Amino acid sequence: MKQRLKLGVNIDHVATVRQARGTDYPDLLEAARCCETAGADGVTIHLREDRRHIQDADVWRLRRECRLPINLEMANVPAIVRIALRVQPAEVCLVPERRQELTTEGGLDVLGQFAAMQKTVARLRDAGISVSIFIAPDEQQLVAAARLGAPVVELHTGAFADARGTARQRELRRLQRAADCAHDLGLQVNAGHGINYTNIADVLQLRWLDTLNIGHSIVARALFCGLTRAVREMRAALRPYRGGAQ
Ligand code: PXP
Repeated sequence: MKQRLKLGVNIDHVATVRQARGTDYPDLLEAARCCETAGADGVTIHLREDRRHIQDADVWRLRRECRLPINLEMANVPAIVRIALRVQPAEVCLVPERRQELTTEGGLDVLGQFAAMQKTVARLRDAGISVSIFIAPDEQQLVAAARLGAPVVELHTGAFADARGTARQRELRRLQRAADCAHDLGLQVNAGHGINYTNIADVLQLRWLDTLNIGHSIVARALFCGLTRAVREMRAALRPYRGGAQ
């Protein structure tokens, strides 16, 4: 079955540019509107505990004024969970977070934090928020994620994106086994991290994908051609996707 692969655009790094100087530009809502014009299916933002890019006011404003669904990435910590419950984004993606990291480095250890995560997933779902779990392509973690009661997993594509040569093919096969496993468990399969205009061709080989969340490469490309065109180009790159019929 051929299915339309959805694109969520992560606009954190538009805020990174703003925070570098403490200005009120570039405007995140304008960025979200460019994504909408270019045919993106959603906007992703990560409200980190250290507020290094996205700020609380951004989350509220985007929730109020952006017409695309908001996917809020966040750590499972009480203060951020409280914000999510008040803001009510369409989707929350639970991610691990370490203060020193440059970006989200690994997937969640669902097995190691099962009870705490189960409670958060239930609270978010009771509030009508769809919950996604960001995990490495690992079968044990996937089985644990399914037991949490979250309907969606986002497979961490970072190891694949960083690998070269035969290691990259190995990572792709690992992602495929994970996507098959998640699909068999009845989970929606998203993927993200490190996906760019070059490696997207390999990512499209994966079966069962519903949504790709892509940020850094799109914002970087936007420097040279504008955000609307950068998103359009990524949308066009996703078009050949053939879904489960590979
Ligand atoms: N998905 C998740 C869960 C992430 O944490 C990130 C990075 O914030 C992305 C997708 C987007 O990754 P990139 O910016 O490398 O495209």
